[in-house]
Order: sequence, then structure tokens, then C-alpha cells
Amino acid sequence: MNLEKLAETVSKIDSFLSSRLSGEPKDLYQAASYLIDHGGKRLRPYMVIKSCQILGGTMKQSIPAAAAVEMVHNFTLVHDDIMDNDEVRHGVPTVHVRFGMPIGILAGDLLFSRAFETISKPYLHKSGNVGLNLVATLAKACTDVCEGQALDISMAKSSKIPSEDQYIKMIEKKTSSLFVASCAMGAISANKDFADVTRLSTFGRNLGIAFQIIDDLIGVTGNPKITKKPVGNDIREGKKSLPILMAIKKASSQEKKIILNAFGNSSVSKSEVERAISTISSLGIEDTIKQKAMYHSNAAMKSILIYDGSAKNELLSLLDFVVERSL
Ligand code: IPE
Ligand code: IPE
Ligand code: MG
Ligand code: MG
Repeated sequence: MNLEKLAETVSKIDSFLSSRLSGEPKDLYQAASYLIDHGGKRLRPYMVIKSCQILGGTMKQSIPAAAAVEMVHNFTLVHDDIMDNDEVRHGVPTVHVRFGMPIGILAGDLLFSRAFETISKPYLHKSGNVGLNLVATLAKACTDVCEGQALDISMAKSSKIPSEDQYIKMIEKKTSSLFVASCAMGAISANKDFADVTRLSTFGRNLGIAFQIIDDLIGVTGNPKITKKPVGNDIREGKKSLPILMAIKKASSQEKKIILNAFGNSSVSKSEVERAISTISSLGIEDTIKQKAMYHSNAAMKSILIYDGSAKNELLSLLDFVVERSL
């Protein structure tokens, strides 16, 4: 599994997405497509497509749901960058920086509403409840993301260091929920049973947790030339990510002082953030973090062992990609 293969599979989504994201006023639609035009791995649409195919469904059946999850994902990114005070994503200015705050907020709103238009449209005035199930599943994921993001923000504001359990609960809501919805919506688009939806949702939940654990690791130790987003912002913003929780636990009092001096300190200098990063990196927590991600990726694997075929293998190799990735 590599990003080229993924891009090839989702290329059909890209043209569908741009057709659904054009309109007037021009700057609003440009702002809504801006991040999608400048990068993104398209992991979630890929999961919709493969979850549909693993159950014998077709690419065509899964396209509206695949496009919709990518829209919702980008909606959450646009608003997340506002909340996190982030100025660069995909190596370009974030949407609110490039287009201004009002259009930034509206671009997010537009992506959100367009996603629901997109999944409901093929099912309007038709019998059956596939469309309704898709809408309900995506809406639930959006609610979960809001709850998770609120937890992320309140944890960042608080001076308390949460437990690992609290961290997992937070990332399950803010990140995993859309991976759950992606897999569930693939299964629903294939018109399959509740049992299949549940199995694939479990796959998505565990993959999503592994994904965010690695994302948080990359957020501290990653290479900004590859990630195309700055490292160290989580430290400056006081984000209670796993590397931080583990580093604080493991650090000597001198090391802890260096980390806490930069942590949640908006006026900290770049070199002090770099010092905190190299202190965290020197603690040897990377392997343990990867093992924790592996634990969830193994749980994801187990939930789809019952299936056969190429889509199953593709979902399994996606797990390896998620844990080993540097982007
Ligand atoms: C970024 O997700 C936001 C998180 C949930 C950590 P992705 O890494 O999948 O975003 P893309 O690839 O830039 O779309
Ligand atoms: C990821 O947020 C979750 C959502 C966007 C809902 P993060 O803040 O952890 O991700 P990055 O680092 O900005 O991509
Ligand atoms: Mg962020
Ligand atoms: Mg965030």
C-alpha cells in the first residue's frame, strides 16, 4: 500500500468532488476546495470504497458517500485550523489565513452541508432506507467530532495531565468517529446487513485510533518537509497528545522543566520549542507509542478476518501504512 495506489483509486472521487464544490460566490467555493486542491491523502474515501467492495458492492455505489466523508473531513480541518491557531497545512496557508475568518468559517459550513446534500441526493424519492441510514451515520460522526474537539480544547486549556484512557476517549471522538462512519457508510452503500456494518465500524474505530496516535507522534517528531505542516504546534498549544503524556511521565525533573516551559506557552521562542522536542525525542518513547498504535491496528485486522478478496487485503495493507507512515 502506498499513497500513489490510494490516489489512483480515489481519482474518480476527485473529479466528483470538484463538480460538487463549484459555484458562486467564487471565493466561498474556492475556499471550500482549497485544501482538497492542495493535497490530502484521501484515506477516508478510500475506506468507504474498500468497505463497499469488501461486501461485493461497486465503486459507483460508494462514490457519493466517499465524496461526502472527504467533504466532512475537510470541514473539520478548516475549523480545526481556526481552533488550533494553525497557519500552514499542505504547505500552504490555512483557509482562514488565506481567505479571512468569515469565509473560512463559511467554507467549513458549506463543506458540511454539501456533504449531506451529496449523500441524500441519489436516494431522494426512492423507496428503501439506504439514504436515511447514510445521513444518520454521517450526522452521528459529526456530533462525535464536535464532542471530541471540545474535549481536545478543554484538555489543552487545563493544567491537568489526563490519563491515557482519557486521551484515547478524546481521539476516538475527534478522529476515529469519521473513520467509523467511512467504513459504515461503505457497508451501507453496498446495501449490507447490520452485522457487516458493525464489523467494518470496529475496523474503522481501531484504525482511527492508531491513525491519531501516529499523527500525534508525527506532530512532535515528524519532518515538516514531508508532513507539510509545522511540528511543535501541539506543544505550544498545550495539546495533551500521547507523546506529551508519556514524555512527562518518563522525564527527569530537569527534562520535565524544559518540556513544561514550552508546553501551552504561546509566547515561547522557536528554539525553546525545538529544545522541548529534542528532549521528548531523547526519551525513547517512540517505540512504545508505535506499539500502542500496533495494538489498535491488530484489533482492526481481527474484525475483518471473516472476509475474503482483494478489498480485504487492501484494507489490511492500509493498516500497515497508517502505522508506518511519516505523512
Ligand atoms: C488530519 O487527517 C487530521 C487528523 C484527523 C489528524 P489526515 O492526515 O487524514 O488529513 P489529510 O491527509 O491532510 O487530508
Ligand atoms: C484532528 O485534529 C481532528 C480533526 C481535525 C477533527 P488535530 O488538530 O489533532 O490534527 P492536525 O494536526 O491539525 O492535522
Ligand atoms: Mg489541528
Ligand atoms: Mg485540533
